[in-house]
Amino acid sequence: MTAVSQRIPTSIATERLVLRLFAPSDLDDRYAYQSLPEVARFLYRPPLTREGCAESIAARAGGTAWQADDDVLLLAVCRADEPGVIGEVVLTLTNARARQAEIGWVFDPRHAGQGYATEAARALASLAFGQLGVHRVFARLDALNTGSARVCERLGMRREALLIDNDLDGDRWGTECVYAILAREWSD
Ligand SMILES: CC(C)(COP(=O)(O)OP(=O)(O)OC[C@H]1O[C@@H](n2cnc3c(N)ncnc32)[C@H](O)[C@@H]1OP(=O)(O)O)[C@@H](O)C(=O)NCCC(=O)NCCS
Repeated sequence: MTAVSQRIPTSIATERLVLRLFAPSDLDDRYAYQSLPEVARFLYRPPLTREGCAESIAARAGGTAWQADDDVLLLAVCRADEPGVIGEVVLTLTNARARQAEIGWVFDPRHAGQGYATEAARALASLAFGQLGVHRVFARLDALNTGSARVCERLGMRREALLIDNDLDGDRWGTECVYAILAREWSD
């Protein structure tokens, strides 16, 4: 059985995108989308404050080890043809022993509908299954978050669970979908 690898590249290039670690100078770009109520709508937390954005950039800008439960790789997503951050993807090692990782994505709505989230998520899942030795990648999302479900489906992830009313989003009962894909099912 392969151990989860610790090697984390600092930059990944795709056809149209560059994924890289956040830098403090990305604060304005990140805050522009993370502060939007419509972006936070299904995240079970309020929009981020400017201070919250800065704190998480500072915490993640140096990269991460990829070894222990709850290690997190947060990558800024940039278009290759213009400056600025258009979104982010995140991979969390939820169970190092069993090589399970949760994937997530948040994008600036000004760059929606062009396949960027899917392209970035595909690159991150490839990294997970390739260099990082992950066995299973999963995503958890609100059942009403149809845009996010479509990203999962474009990646070839399987809907494995529908957890009815398993959380509270303010005073609304939230129903959670779990999507997943295994290393042996993944093809780039
Ligand atoms: C979830 C989220 C990333 C999805 O954004 P998105 O723009 O729908 O996803 P993509 O960037 O992959 O774009 C896909 C769309 O672009 C279209 N598209 C256009 N050109 C394309 C191209 N060249 N390649 C691929 N897709 C293309 C696709 O057809 C698709 O549209 P459809 O879903 O209507 O069929 C976005 O809604 C978001 O950030 N939401 C807020 C945060 C959030 O809820 N995150 C998830 C928490 S679980």
